[in-house]
Amino acid sequence: MIVKSAEFVTSAVKPPHYPPADLPEIAFAGRSNVGKSSLINKLVNRRRLVKTSSTPGRTQLINFFLINQAFRFVDLPGYGYARVPEGVRRQWGTMIETYLTQRPCLKGLILIVDIRRTPGTEEDDLLRWLDHHGIECRIVATKADKLSRNKRVRPIRQIAARVGLAEEALVLFSAKSGLGLAPVWQHIEDMLGAAS
Ligand code: GTP
Ligand code: MG
Repeated sequence: MIVKSAEFVTSAVKPPHYPPADLPEIAFAGRSNVGKSSLINKLVNRRRLVKTSSTPGRTQLINFFLINQAFRFVDLPGYGYARVPEGVRRQWGTMIETYLTQRPCLKGLILIVDIRRTPGTEEDDLLRWLDHHGIECRIVATKADKLSRNKRVRPIRQIAARVGLAEEALVLFSAKSGLGLAPVWQHIEDMLGAAS
């Protein structure tokens, strides 16, 4: 995919504030601080289209980005950040769930995991929930640059087993080196194409 344009559209909490559902959308989800916003920036080759931060919980709203005037990327707030109060956490859950279930133009979701952390019950629950709602999902393991090639073997095996993928089907990504850009775009194009 050649990205000719990428622009911020709006931030929203509730459906009335979403942009009109007139373009296909790909959503990005994952734990807080996993690297969702960095992955989007790398995909569109803009250093600061999406705000990133070393402080977890930076993205607290649903952010919409228009790509090539043709489709949108949707940066979802990270889940599983322990230091937010329970009430706030529940609100975040509702916000994400509402978007995922009430967005007719949603074509699929990229679930981002950290290569150094085996997915846990939160990811299990999310995957089962997505499957139940018939939402297409592809999994990407990011921050691959944090491990040497040798050190990646075991985590790849563990992550793939946990999410029910063949090892070679798990996409490794690095926002630092650009590793995995083509396969992530391939997943996005598949989801955009399959659903149109
Ligand atoms: P929230 O919006 O808070 O949920 O975080 P996020 O998932 O959007 O993460 P973000 O992209 O803001 O990145 C979090 C931190 O991880 C930042 O300090 C990034 O620089 C760093 N980071 C993200 N991706 C990578 C990567 O591929 N490699 C390395 N080495 N660091 C990364
Ligand atoms: Mg973010």
